[in-house]
Amino acid sequence: MSFSLYIDYSGLVEGLEKHVCLTDLHEKIPGSERVFDTRTLEKGSLILGFMDDTLCLRRAGDKEKPVFVDFVGGKAGHRRKFGGGKGQDIAKAVGLNKGVTPHVLDGTGGLGRDAFVLASLGCTVTLIERSPVIAALLQDGINRAKQNPEVADIASRMTLINDDSRQAMQDLATDGRQFDVVYLDPMFPHREKSALVKKEMRIFQDLLSGDPDADELLAPAESLAEFRVVVKRPRLAPDLAGKEPTYRLEGKACRYDIHAYKAFGSEK
Ligand SMILES: C[S@@+](CC[C@H](N)C(=O)[O-])C[C@H]1O[C@@H](n2cnc3c(N)ncnc32)[C@H](O)[C@@H]1O
Repeated sequence: MSFSLYIDYSGLVEGLEKHVCLTDLHEKIPGSERVFDTRTLEKGSLILGFMDDTLCLRRAGDKEKPVFVDFVGGKAGHRRKFGGGKGQDIAKAVGLNKGVTPHVLDGTGGLGRDAFVLASLGCTVTLIERSPVIAALLQDGINRAKQNPEVADIASRMTLINDDSRQAMQDLATDGRQFDVVYLDPMFPHREKSALVKKEMRIFQDLLSGDPDADELLAPAESLAEFRVVVKRPRLAPDLAGKEPTYRLEGKACRYDIHAYKAFGSEK
């Protein structure tokens, strides 16, 4: 078990692009000049590197399982097999229960869980993720999924762009592009006591410092979505950009705010 690349998260985002080629991760990272013996690292530093053939993020000195993307087994695999299909709230939120399989732009890709659920239900999903570290983990997960016969066709419907959605969505709209649905799930400050916040969420919080500009996502999303913008929010969170949605789907842990512009099936 070895990690090939160490990055101190204080300087992470600016530097990473130079060392990560998103289309060719496996060749670029192991050959990087930045190879460290991770045993010398300060406890708590974040480490990005390969463990066997999987790109992982973990904390120096932390015995917990590292964070990585696994679309084949684990929770994603279980949800794909037993998750409730088109009856799930997320599926209803994007309109899958209306007999359509929309092309979705996921403007806050994260580790791609929601996008994978949508892709496994037939949607084509374009994901945008601005953090190069998260994007690298996600692209690696998509690449490995494409090699696995169980999920290869699902992964082939997922395309990742490493960019800031606020600008990227505007640029796509300027180029005349439209998506049936734009899906947004920005981070929201968690109020739970730290012991209850999942390890993965803690790493995200350290790495990404929240999404304080999340409100700026709604306007460009609205200009890009033909049928609806769907915003995933914690149950009691305020509306994104203070804008009341057309309607809401309330779940136990979260809600989906739907800004609807056109009924599916109506003339494009
Ligand atoms: C809560 S996570 C999304 C989780 C995702 N829905 C999933 O299922 O894995 C929010 C993600 O959105 C990303 N993000 C926030 N604002 C963004 C922006 N303006 N452009 C691109 N990505 C953004 C963050 O970097 C973070 O990875």
